[in-house]
Amino acid sequence: MTGILDRLRNLRAADAPTHGGRVLAYVYDAGVPELDELADAAASLARPVNALDPTVFPSVAVMEREVLGFVRRALHGRRDVVGSVTSGGTESCLLAVKTARDLWRAEHGSTASGRRPRLLVPATAHAAFQKAARLFDLELDTVPCRPDGAVAAEDVIARMDGDVALVVVSAPAYPSGALDPIRAVAAAAQAHGIRCHVDACFGGLVLPWWTDAPAWDFRVTGVTSISADLHKYGYAPKGVSVLLHRGRRQHRAQFFATTRWPGYPVVNPTLLGSKSASPLAASWAIVQRLGDSGFAELTASIRRVATGIRSEVDGIPGLVVLGDPVGPALALIADPTAMPALRVDPHRLADELARRGWRIQHQPGFVQADGTRLPRSAHLTLTPVLERELGGFRRALVQAADAVRGRPPADGRALAAAVRALGYGARRVPGPAAAWRLLRLAGAARATSDRPLAGLMALVEELPAPVAEALLTELLARLSEPR
Ligand SMILES: Cc1ncc(COP(=O)(O)O)c(C=O)c1O
Repeated sequence: MTGILDRLRNLRAADAPTHGGRVLAYVYDAGVPELDELADAAASLARPVNALDPTVFPSVAVMEREVLGFVRRALHGRRDVVGSVTSGGTESCLLAVKTARDLWRAEHGSTASGRRPRLLVPATAHAAFQKAARLFDLELDTVPCRPDGAVAAEDVIARMDGDVALVVVSAPAYPSGALDPIRAVAAAAQAHGIRCHVDACFGGLVLPWWTDAPAWDFRVTGVTSISADLHKYGYAPKGVSVLLHRGRRQHRAQFFATTRWPGYPVVNPTLLGSKSASPLAASWAIVQRLGDSGFAELTASIRRVATGIRSEVDGIPGLVVLGDPVGPALALIADPTAMPALRVDPHRLADELARRGWRIQHQPGFVQADGTRLPRSAHLTLTPVLERELGGFRRALVQAADAVRGRPPADGRALAAAVRALGYGARRVPGPAAAWRLLRLAGAARATSDRPLAGLMALVEELPAPVAEALLTELLARLSEPR
């Protein structure tokens, strides 16, 4: 047995560190080891339970009720707000869309008329909504943002009509850290009879304690559902999020129930059937332990981190914070007003920081449907634990910026031209073997957690999206192919 666990320990040694604040994406460390121990103990107690059936395992219902109650209070929901615990942000977003689609269909009799509902989202809405539109057959209507990553309420409102089943706003949007204009969009949605989902998967357990954030939650008229992830700023292990609805009728539309088979009657509030109770138990324990005051303290710490990093970036020539973020995410971009010789390319910066043991996340530049470009950026998820390392991170940021200032961004044009010369494009994507050959050609076939990514991201920016998606699919799929 120890041999097996030793091997896992060795494997884990190659992972990016999950604790200590050196990875500013993916992981959310409160910096309180006692919380992790509590979560582990609770997860272990609940491990054998199947959360499929809370009538057989009533502990599941009690924990779920208490977690939902806590989040509902934090988001200023009244008694009419009800919901479910899901397996993560993507599942919460998928269910928000599925629910709105089903209600839209019921209200519009769409199957008879053949109308297809629309999902209205700003360009910075999480990709989970693209997945939802594909899975649940809605037309995705993407509203372009300004180059600073903010969306104008009037641009969203201008596209509202009776075919929109759901409009989505984010609190905040992951790529930019911007808080969408929730009050204006939700009010207009209500006037049009359209449901409005606030995707607070990222900020839902920070913004309630971010003292001067504008109202974005159930206090806002017209907001009909909110998602908030416990496995992000709820500091729980992965596998737990909350989706809250205004009104029982809307919540019940989320369920799948059938008695039309010879087995046990199936009633699933979420997408999964059998599911682990461990993530729920872990997050329940953390919520009990932290309470309102614990979350307030951790948020205050994140806020000090945000202020410190923003003031450091303000002093770095050639680098700026994108737009005006509210909450725990920042995106860094090259200062567009600086001379090229002074600019700090955010992807070169991210690679240089990785060499120094700090990870921030590459986000490729993105050309929107109207032709406007959102600049390439580097995302930072700010966590409480980083406060202890803030001095070290600020120094690393300055040194890394100095090291790459004036270096031109990686250029993916030659490789993209080679890919196109082979006949690949939006209408002809490479299959697995060809995609793998192209990845090798691009020097991107080796995936270790600390390799430079500026080149791959530049290629992603240049290639038609279907080709880039095929290459990245291949990259990931090969990783877990049995050898
Ligand atoms: C705003 C937002 N929505 C949805 C998601 C998807 O969450 P998950 O990765 O838990 O599925 C994320 C993840 O970062 C997010 O930031």
